[in-house]
Amino acid sequence: TRTFYLTRHGQSEYNLLGKIGGDSGLTPAGKEYARRLADFARDHIGVRKVVDPNTGEESEVQQPCRLWTSTLRRTKETTQFIDHSKFKYKWDNGDTGEWVQFRPMARRNLDELYAGVCDGMTYKDIEQVYPEEFNRRQEDKLTYRYPRGESYMDVTLRLEPLAQEMERTREPVLIVGHQGILRILYAYFMGLDRKEAPYVSIPLNNVIELTPHAYGCHEKRYCLMR
Ligand code: F6P
Repeated sequence: TRTFYLTRHGQSEYNLLGKIGGDSGLTPAGKEYARRLADFARDHIGVRKVVDPNTGEESEVQQPCRLWTSTLRRTKETTQFIDHSKFKYKWDNGDTGEWVQFRPMARRNLDELYAGVCDGMTYKDIEQVYPEEFNRRQEDKLTYRYPRGESYMDVTLRLEPLAQEMERTREPVLIVGHQGILRILYAYFMGLDRKEAPYVSIPLNNVIELTPHAYGCHEKRYCLMR
């Protein structure tokens, strides 16, 4: 079955400072998460069990996967240890070839919700500098649009084509994204109400596995690091 894996980037310099947005790199802890994610991708996402029809014996084979990041540094750096080398594969029909199992693809519509004039500020800064904006956001987080920035509603619209592409994809998809973006994708696949999406918990250092079924998705979370 097709499976989606959603994860935020590893801890960034801005996460550590409590600042939103920006384009900072990973902290040492973020880099450690990148290492663990590479192991998880290799051992868990990149293999599938096959049963020999004659002997009934189970074995594991490598499978091709999709790897999507945003265009921001912190997501790209989080994929840096994932094996991008070619491997030889053999299809069931006997054909052989070479394949890059996880080829990273940076996609602009996965970039984090843009906070406009508030980009790079802490929530405390925003509350002090733009108190009215801050309050308006508390009141209606879904439709609130940062001045010269985006709302969760805006992000929902720009993610629509990507979500549809995910539905059509047969290989497992690993998305290394951002809190706001992943909330929307999660809500979409879990069939949550739009209003709930901005509050979904998507902690750092976890991989969310979603396996679509007839009416929604089966969910499993893997905590790779405390
Ligand atoms: O703090 C990390 C972050 O990804 C910010 O870049 C982004 O603005 C924020 O989370 C989104 O979360 P919320 O909508 O709850 O402010």
